Amino acid sequence: MSGSESETLELTPVIERARSRFEGATTEHELRALKAEILGKKGELTAQLRSLGQAPPEQRKLMGERVNAAKAEVEAAFEARLHQLADAARRAELEAPPFDLTLPGRVTAPRGHLHPVTRVKWEILDIFRSLGFSVAWGPEVDLERNNFERLGFPPDHPATDMQDSFWVDVKGATAGVRALLRTHTSTVQVREMSTREPPLAVVSGGPVYRRDDDVTHSPMFHQIEGFLVDERTNFAELKGVLGEFARRLYGPECSVRFRPSYFPFVEPGAEMDVTCVFCSPDDGSRASCRVCKASGWLEVLGCGMIHPEVFRHCGIDAERYRGFAFGLGVDRVAMLRYGIPDIRLLFENDPRFLTQF
Ligand code: PHE
Repeated sequence: MSGSESETLELTPVIERARSRFEGATTEHELRALKAEILGKKGELTAQLRSLGQAPPEQRKLMGERVNAAKAEVEAAFEARLHQLADAARRAELEAPPFDLTLPGRVTAPRGHLHPVTRVKWEILDIFRSLGFSVAWGPEVDLERNNFERLGFPPDHPATDMQDSFWVDVKGATAGVRALLRTHTSTVQVREMSTREPPLAVVSGGPVYRRDDDVTHSPMFHQIEGFLVDERTNFAELKGVLGEFARRLYGPECSVRFRPSYFPFVEPGAEMDVTCVFCSPDDGSRASCRVCKASGWLEVLGCGMIHPEVFRHCGIDAERYRGFAFGLGVDRVAMLRYGIPDIRLLFENDPRFLTQF
């Protein structure tokens, strides 16, 4: 190898330049960027390696070794600086004032709360629990049989129109077996009565579905259902229990009245009204009350004595047992409680609305 050739391969300045540039880096990120630049495709050493192809074959081996040795030195300089920076960072961390674990955390998401309907649902369920009822649950998709037939709705009864249903396709169902989104929570009555022995006092609550949609009706809304079955209950007990419920929900001044009504699964059937909580005849506010339409009464629930036919459909001795049942809309109670004018607001999930509760 001649002198001039070894000159062109003088790599010490290249190594020195790399070392001093590494020294100048103050962060790991900066250091890694420099390394990529120096040893990368456009770096000096890479250019040297590439030029080896043109060198005379007898020199190629030696030159190659030197370029690779230089590369290894640059890499070692990089590693050394990397360790230095890591040590310095660790030392700075140790010498810094201690991290204060007692600092309150930053609030990244606002804390949520129960939906007004859920809150009212539990308030009502709790009142019945305190009166000795237990809580049960039923599915939202149920058989036509549990939603209508066992409750005494004859096939094609107009009431099945009244509760316009959402039917659900069940793959592989036996012919004639139909399922739907339950139109009321009375399904839980027949489910509980066919699997448990009286005496029974049960409440249940949850979503129900009907093809309805306006200011006071939503296709999904919430009901609470309750029933009591034993050997001696009667309509007086129904009135006593539901009157007590109304006083606990609306306050001790609340009175109730019962109006005859029809549901296929009760006989006699009634609707219960409570005195309007928004107005009073004493101060003249009743005449202009829009909530009760100046009647002084708010309709709150349907109820009645369980029809013996329903007992028979559930395998309960209709001669021995009697019972009462009731069902009410939870959303309506929440709307009255919080002065919400449109039921649809409850289910749009708009935080501007929900954060008001
Ligand atoms: N299931 C009835 C409805 O949805 C309410 C009800 C329940 C009436 C129990 C009487 C007894 O309208």
